[in-house]
Amino acid sequence: MTFFAVRHLTMAFGGLKAADAVSFEITKGEIYAIIGPNGAGKTTVFNCINGIYPPTEGSIIFKDRNIRGLSPDRVAKAGIARTFQNIELFSNMNTMENIMLGRHLFMKTGLFRGGLMWGKKSFAGKEEIENRRRVEEIIDLLELQTYRNKFVGALPYGIQKKIELGRALAAEPELLLLDEPCAGMNAEEKQDVVFWIKDIQDMLGITILLIEHDMHMVMDISDRILALNFGRPIAEGSPAEVSAHPEVLAAYLGTEEAGDAPASAGAGRRPA
Ligand SMILES: Nc1ncnc2c1ncn2[C@@H]1O[C@H](COP(=O)(O)OP(=O)(O)O)[C@@H](O)[C@H]1O
Ligand SMILES: [Mg+2]
Repeated sequence: MTFFAVRHLTMAFGGLKAADAVSFEITKGEIYAIIGPNGAGKTTVFNCINGIYPPTEGSIIFKDRNIRGLSPDRVAKAGIARTFQNIELFSNMNTMENIMLGRHLFMKTGLFRGGLMWGKKSFAGKEEIENRRRVEEIIDLLELQTYRNKFVGALPYGIQKKIELGRALAAEPELLLLDEPCAGMNAEEKQDVVFWIKDIQDMLGITILLIEHDMHMVMDISDRILALNFGRPIAEGSPAEVSAHPEVLAAYLGTEEAGDAPASAGAGRRPA
């Protein structure tokens, strides 16, 4: 069975091929990372996978089925959840409610209505109880208890990223797409995220496809890495192989001031 594969994926915006014949395959259970300088096409690949953009060419195979062209909702229902490079949470809702949004795929009776409008013994009531139980499990797993009832808008950035991760987990994905989960974090917070990602892989058995800009972070965590530049794959392999690949070094160095090590490429190029 093919668990997940992208084949010859091309996404053109006018004359620009943001993704240009990208192919890779992921084995169930692994942590697979896509790296590359800003503008390399990493997020575009995610947007094609989860149905935000209709690819110009290529196929996206999930569990032997071509899911290219499915709507984001149907991709999520098929078992692929994602987080975004820029946090997309409802800042005037609390932690619990934001994570609950990840459960809407499972709600037959509509968001929040179930528990409020019918008794606990009704179908809607039972569904609501089950949804809340799952959300509480995620809150425990990610150690978000302290923030359960706090509006997310006022919470620290690192916590918000974790809540977004919680919302993605609430959809019970088999494949989790993380778009720069460490963006904007300090070293300690980054280390934390690395642990969470490993826990999610180990304890929940979820396969992870990760986008990262900072090579240090992916070296630690990934089983395999694909490097993109200008939409095109330039290297694939183990962290050691990819980080030593001449085209990868050139792609990172070419956009840096001379002398910058590739592992620190993230810092210089990201807008503040
Ligand atoms: N909706 C869009 N319309 C036009 N150009 C886009 C769109 N989305 C992305 N691009 C362009 O595609 C290229 C790749 O962008 P992106 O996938 O966001 O890169 P990355 O995530 O690697 O930084 C960039 O040049 C970007 O400007
Ligand atoms: Mg991006």
